[in-house]
Amino acid sequence: MALAAFIQTTEKYVNPMSNHSINFIYLVSATLFMLGIKYLSSPSTAKRGNLLSMIGMAAAIGTTMATPGLHGFTLIIIGVIIGAVIGGYTAIKIKMTAMPEMVALFNGCGGAASALVALAEFQSNTTGGFDSFTLITLLLSLIIGGLTFTGSIMAYAKLQGLIPTRPVTYPGQQVVNAIIVLATVALSWFLFQDPTSILALSGIIILSLGLGVLAVIPIGGADMPVIICLLNSYSGLAVSMTGFALSNNALIITGSLVGASGIFLTKIMCDAMNRSLSNVLFSAFGQVVESADDTGEGPTGSMKGYEVEDVATILTNAGSLIIVPGYGMAAAQAQHATRELGDYLGEQGVEVRYAIHPVAGRMPGHMNVLLAEADVPYEQLFALEDINDDFASTDVVLVIGANDVVNPAAKSNPNSPIYGMPVLDVEKATTVIVLKRSMNVGFAGIENELFYKDNTMMLFGDAKSSLHKLVAAMK
Ligand code: TAP
Repeated sequence: MALAAFIQTTEKYVNPMSNHSINFIYLVSATLFMLGIKYLSSPSTAKRGNLLSMIGMAAAIGTTMATPGLHGFTLIIIGVIIGAVIGGYTAIKIKMTAMPEMVALFNGCGGAASALVALAEFQSNTTGGFDSFTLITLLLSLIIGGLTFTGSIMAYAKLQGLIPTRPVTYPGQQVVNAIIVLATVALSWFLFQDPTSILALSGIIILSLGLGVLAVIPIGGADMPVIICLLNSYSGLAVSMTGFALSNNALIITGSLVGASGIFLTKIMCDAMNRSLSNVLFSAFGQVVESADDTGEGPTGSMKGYEVEDVATILTNAGSLIIVPGYGMAAAQAQHATRELGDYLGEQGVEVRYAIHPVAGRMPGHMNVLLAEADVPYEQLFALEDINDDFASTDVVLVIGANDVVNPAAKSNPNSPIYGMPVLDVEKATTVIVLKRSMNVGFAGIENELFYKDNTMMLFGDAKSSLHKLVAAMK
């Protein structure tokens, strides 16, 4: 009863607004989204960016509710409440390390929403009276939204380990995918001729849902962050197509923003790995790497394992220290122990900085997120390009569970799969200390000659436990 009264009162005051007012508020929302994205580019302003985007989204939703002639107000309010409760609860409960999974689900929801809106438009128009432009945008919204939905669900399932994370390949895979794309185009042509054809519509839905699954299964689990960015871009495209079909400026602008930023992020990640997007999509990287180091150019030198006390002495006597975190720090959940060590040495007068490689870990900003969670001051974090020249003048580099991002083969071995990938020049420091559990390879599956260099000290063990022991030994 109270809810019904609330809805009635709200409806009385907000409905309807003029088109000019609506478009003006949409423009304000879009500006807030753009500022939000800009502020998200630095950890120190990210919270402000989130807040601005939230205000923009609230304004856009509120304005849409005040659109003249809007029906089903009660249902919309109920939907908003359910969505807000689920979204809010998940966002609070989710672990930082499970962010890629959550983003995958959000992308899937965006794709599904666009596809459902397009489907509803097709269903409500039984006479087939669409103009060509609306028909094309509805079709694109349906197809891109559908494949984004199932593709995102597959990405989520791979990251959660619900399905095999290794690339699933079979002979003629690309041909099958190409046939599905061609069949979708052919059915779209039929639907174009007869927009009321249930058969063509059903076929397009099934094929686009299938394409999402088949396009993602040949990609290895570790490449999922790149795919999630790409699917994020697709979900934006689908939303903007829906916006064109519904003549809704907020959807057009927001969808374009998501589409463009997703594709830029995908490119940045590919560049940082020195891989092309087609290599990520079609090379089944997780399988190839098993023989990736078959170059006949194995590392030379001898590996030296050290005790905690030896390493603690080197750290205590250092004047400057650069900490290089990698996937192993995330896997060991060692971010708090890392900060504890950094803080302790900082208090002893050591200059402590952190070097962040753009693809260290398994998701964009993985290291930034974990170190921020552990309250490492933003001003101690340096991007690769800002700190790489400083390694040569640094006493000690502490590599915590990083491997590929500090592998000198990226600069020296043209046969290496990571050749050309920008890496941190850690080997130029006076001493390099590496914390890892064994001589196992990293994501790219290749040996690392850094571990065999004269100035490298290996300390074997789980990163968190080694860090605790080091702090205890130093104290
Ligand atoms: P990796 O090269 O994957 O190496 C991680 C190292 O951590 C491993 O060699 C492993 O050695 C060690 N490790 C694992 N668990 C550990 C633990 N509990 N304690 C201590 N060490 C542990 O990591 P990286 O240097 O961060 O490079 C990231 C790689 O992922 C790059 O090749 C990048 O291209 C790829 N990638 C990144 C992204 C994004 S967006 N970040 C996306 C896709 C792919 P042990 O087993 O011997 O301990």
